[in-house]
Amino acid sequence: MHSLLSPQTLGSLTLRNGLAVAPMTTTQSHADGSVSEAEARWLERLADDGYGLVLTCAAAISKRSIAFEQQLSFGDDRWIPALQALTRRVARPQTALLAQLCHGGSRSIPALTGEPARSASAFELDLPGFVAPIELSSAQIEEIIEDFASAAARAERAGFQGVELHGANGYLFTQFASTVTNLRRDAWGGPLAHRARLSREVVRAIRTRVSKDFLLGMRWSFESPFDAGLDLDEGVQVIEWLAEDGVDYAHVSQMDLSATSKKVPSEAVFARVRAGVDRALPLIAAGGVTSAAKLAEAESMGAAFVAIGRAAIGNRDVPAKLAKGDALAQTPFDREALRALDVSDDFIRYLETAPPLASLGIVRR
Ligand SMILES: Cc1cc2nc3c(=O)[nH]c(=O)nc-3n(C[C@H](O)[C@H](O)[C@H](O)COP(=O)(O)O)c2cc1C
Repeated sequence: MHSLLSPQTLGSLTLRNGLAVAPMTTTQSHADGSVSEAEARWLERLADDGYGLVLTCAAAISKRSIAFEQQLSFGDDRWIPALQALTRRVARPQTALLAQLCHGGSRSIPALTGEPARSASAFELDLPGFVAPIELSSAQIEEIIEDFASAAARAERAGFQGVELHGANGYLFTQFASTVTNLRRDAWGGPLAHRARLSREVVRAIRTRVSKDFLLGMRWSFESPFDAGLDLDEGVQVIEWLAEDGVDYAHVSQMDLSATSKKVPSEAVFARVRAGVDRALPLIAAGGVTSAAKLAEAESMGAAFVAIGRAAIGNRDVPAKLAKGDALAQTPFDREALRALDVSDDFIRYLETAPPLASLGIVRR
């Protein structure tokens, strides 16, 4: 049997296999950020499906960080009892539940946060309807670091086994790392050490607030069509620093884990990251895992875990199916089939309408 299908260790935990559910925004929490029955059912379904790791949607860390409608939130102590009920419900042997924590930065939604969006800089992007964010002050950056640390501490109190920071896909960590969106000339912008400072300080702050065994990961976009101003080798350096600061793993965010690098076309992005980062740091690969062959490819590239996104929505029991060599249902999935798999109407609507997801054709039209 393929070894990613066998038990794996991550930090101090032994997990039933090396398969993770990729973090996926579901827009199915209550409007105030508290966990809903639909979100709990979804996460419970994923735990029952037999993954070693289940990652939540990108969750808010504070009211000002909200980047999605009906986004799960770790931003307030009053959500802890419901989150505790959630972790009790989702607990399965050798399955870890991790919360993905996200600050929207320029992509925070003023109608939901009650204030204008803020980011590293007041950058302009040539996108329809784009409103330039306001540049964060140093004091506001320090508040965000504190908000991340408090959110992680709440996740631990609620019974999660760890948190993953969302440093991929254009949210606040990416906005600070990118030379296109971070135009600052102070200690938070300019050279890479300054652009990576937010990520490093958040990791260090979380480490002082959670127990040693609480898992902490960083998801990162190394090269992405959506994130101008990122450099693959700079990303590798950032992950090396974060490993020193206390992350237990790095998650290489991609739509296709075999994708070759724009910067070094002879190499796959994942392989270059694996070669550049200390072997002791486990890497999660993601993107396009829909068959045992793709899983084998991830393993041959040195992935310690593989995250499965779209296939996890439209298929039950993916780990068992991959182990048996059964074919998985592929996108586009039928709406009624998704409903039968306990995918909520809010989530289906998000899959059908959210840019740029809608263009992926996840649901049959
Ligand atoms: C519906 C949907 C929502 C997503 N939301 C998130 C998210 O909240 N955080 C994140 O890091 N990535 C998010 N992604 C990206 C996935 O985690 C994953 O990297 C991507 O879908 C590629 O994996 P796949 O080919 O197995 O789907 C999302 C993807 C999908 C399809």
